[in-house]
Parts: sequence; structure tokens; C-alpha cells
Amino acid sequence: MYKPIEVTDDIFYVGVNDRTKHLFESLWPLPQGVSYNSYIVRDKKTALIDTVDICYSDLFMRKIRSVLGDTGIDYLVVNHMEPDHSGSIEFLVSRYPNIQIVGNKRTLEMLKGFYGITDNVIEVKDSDEMSLGKYTLQFYMTPMVHWPETMMTYVKEAKTLFSADAFGTFGTLDGGVLDTQLCPERYRDEMIRYYSNIVGIRFACANCPEKTG
Ligand SMILES: [Fe+2]
Repeated sequence: MYKPIEVTDDIFYVGVNDRTKHLFESLWPLPQGVSYNSYIVRDKKTALIDTVDICYSDLFMRKIRSVLGDTGIDYLVVNHMEPDHSGSIEFLVSRYPNIQIVGNKRTLEMLKGFYGITDNVIEVKDSDEMSLGKYTLQFYMTPMVHWPETMMTYVKEAKTLFSADAFGTFGTLDGGVLDTQLCPERYRDEMIRYYSNIVGIRFACANCPEKTG
């Protein structure tokens, strides 16, 4: 049984650490592993923000159940479709067949292309809001940070932003998820490597394709 990691009273981290993969995207070395980050916003309606790599679906489900027990999930918000975020979507749908998947137009196109999912989807646009009860989700489109469908989700009342890969890093999360629970300095080199190889280079490609090829 897992002890839920609380971010706030109603927001929980249910992501996982991957200490076995050697190369991220089969290209970038992972000397300190990597984490796949997912969160639950628990309210009258419950939302799950992103999923994890498919290799960790079982562990992911056990972590979700440690927070929700037998309670269902109303919404899955897909901020990013890269498989380290979206890989467990099919698994999740098989366990929660009534879950509604929230994404933008490009997300839903990719959802169909990647996983053949077209039912129970909700399309959102920039600045759209969705009420869960006492919490409100706001959606902001952030294309090419670092894929075309990328968006961010902000919980207004909790002042919490789920920022997809924008402020990501390589390295596992060992023992906590907040800066106050970790040693941010330990991640400095991996943050720079992540930004320069994963986020920055593709941002440059989107704006200067003739220069970066
Ligand atoms: Fe990504």
C-alpha cells in the first residue's frame, strides 16, 4: 500500500520514478533516471492530470487507488501526448471506462492517431475553464513547449500550475515532489541538459526551421 504524496490537501502526486531506462527517447542518457509525473485533483469531480509511461501502468494504478480507493475518476486532462505522459491512457480507460479525456484539438487528433480513442473526449480551447466543485481548472495552450499539442492546466483556487514539460528535468524524484522536500541544486546539471536537449532545441526548431533543420 502506498502512502499518497500530498501537494496540497486535495492535490496528490501519483507519478513514478524510472531507474531502469538507459536512454530517454532512445537517445538521451539517463544517469540519474527520470520521473513520469501525474497528479490527482480531488474534488466533487476528480481530475487526473497526465499519466505515466506504459511500463509503469500497474504501479501507477496502485498509487491512484491509494488516493481514491474505489472512487472513480471523472476527467483525465492530457497536457502532453508524448508517451512518457500519455502511455497509460489506454490502460486507464480500461480501468475507468467512463472517464472523460480533456485535451485541445491537436491533443484529440493525436489521441485518435496514437491510441484510436475518439469517445468520451472533451475539447478545450485557450483560457477555457472547467469546474470540479470548489476548484476550477483553466487551460492554456503552449504549442511547441515542446510538442504542438502541449498545454498547461492551472487550478485557480489552489494557485497550482501543471506545466507539462516546460520546467522539467531528468532525474528521479527521491523522497518528495516539492522544492522544499528535495535539493533543487542536485538537479541543476540535469535541468540544463533537459532544457537544452528536450525543450529548447525543439522550441528553436519551431521558430527557425531553416537554421536548425
Ligand atoms: Fe515531452
